[in-house]
Amino acid sequence: MNDSPESAPAPDAAPELFTWEFATDPYPAYAWLREHSPVHRTALPSGVEAWLVTRYADARQALADTRLSKNPAHHAGSANAKGKTGIPGERKAELMTHLLNIDPPDHTRLRRLVSKAFTPRRVAEFAPRVQELTDRLIDSFIEEGKADLIHDFAFPLPIYAICDLLGVPREDQDDFRDWAGMMIRHGGGPRGGVARSVKKMRGYLAELIHRKRENPGDDLISGLIRASDHGEHLSENEAAAMAFILLFAGFETTVNLIGNGTYALLRNPAQRERLERSLAAGETELLATGIEELLRYDGPVELATWRYATEPVNLGGQDIAVGDPVLVVLAAADRDPERFQDADTLDLARSDNQHLGYGHGIHYCVGAPLARLEGRVALATLLRRLPDLRLAAEPADLRWRGGLIMRGLRTLPVEFDPG
Ligand code: HEM
Repeated sequence: MNDSPESAPAPDAAPELFTWEFATDPYPAYAWLREHSPVHRTALPSGVEAWLVTRYADARQALADTRLSKNPAHHAGSANAKGKTGIPGERKAELMTHLLNIDPPDHTRLRRLVSKAFTPRRVAEFAPRVQELTDRLIDSFIEEGKADLIHDFAFPLPIYAICDLLGVPREDQDDFRDWAGMMIRHGGGPRGGVARSVKKMRGYLAELIHRKRENPGDDLISGLIRASDHGEHLSENEAAAMAFILLFAGFETTVNLIGNGTYALLRNPAQRERLERSLAAGETELLATGIEELLRYDGPVELATWRYATEPVNLGGQDIAVGDPVLVVLAAADRDPERFQDADTLDLARSDNQHLGYGHGIHYCVGAPLARLEGRVALATLLRRLPDLRLAAEPADLRWRGGLIMRGLRTLPVEFDPG
């Protein structure tokens, strides 16, 4: 975390990326790249070479550039380029047709169908349930006086929420918690336990979709099956891929919003006190701008998912060849001083805040209204119910989960007076 100006040195040579130190605080390295090599070619830990785009203006342009495809088939020179969003199990063909791997016109069709089912109204009606889940989770540890806020709170809340929304019966939701836990702990490719978990989840969703087709309800899966656009419906495979990407895109991201967000508040006590005062006065505006600022300042998605040049592209003065992978570094763009005043400072009241934390362009996050709802309820309730919440570890001892796309803590040990 870049909490003070001293932590942003300007080394002479390109900083080493993807090390342990980098995972803990990538912001000084991103500051160097923005200034000295804004569209930077690098070898990723996997050995694959890709371009990192770190300035805000270039990032926004790249996210909306139709010459950059999301279809992994456009990746030159990589026979096994499929499945680069980091979602375990997505190499399986039947899950490949999800929104983050396709371009128009297929993307346009699927996106329209999901938007018909996943409406702002459905999310708004879900607010009381998110509050109930949040309170139930806090009840489960409040008497202990300590907790790991990732394991006990940030991790289960989004998985139960998305299961509920999709229509997974309550008695099956702990299975999802176990499967998702396996994936988030072990991430990466579909190996061993992760492969088994993905397989079980896939099988379960396929069967659930089948059941909902026979016996529809009020839930999102039934909505996906029902949604039609010019007489077109989702096929069963497409509905399964959609349910899977909603689970995946909506799960670890929200864990990280709650985790990174709480951590940022704990490290910026003046901002936290201001938010607490505002909540105690019954105001909601600072909470709303605050969630956006937490997304900008240390957001859940460090790099947007993979894009590939389908024709020669010039980005920020750099020529990019056909087939080259392009990774837009949202975390770097959102700290760009050319775009944001005092970019390294957390300012919950920041109003000019068009951050890229949810992406930009046609792949802009489908789940943003749900993420905002969960973020607001989770943080406001934590601050209200655990007013003396404090970090129970040295920041330097905290470990961040590895992985290219997401940024999130493995654990967040806290203490508070037992309730
Ligand atoms: C897309 C961030 C929560 C579903 C995206 C993208 C970003 C993002 C950056 C674009 C990726 C790219 O262009 O490469 C976030 C953050 C979240 C969050 C920061 C939480 C704070 C959710 C939730 C859901 C969701 C709760 C659903 C339940 C999706 C889907 C896409 C997407 C389906 C693909 C959209 C498309 O390709 O058209 N999200 N997301 N996200 N997100 Fe989210």
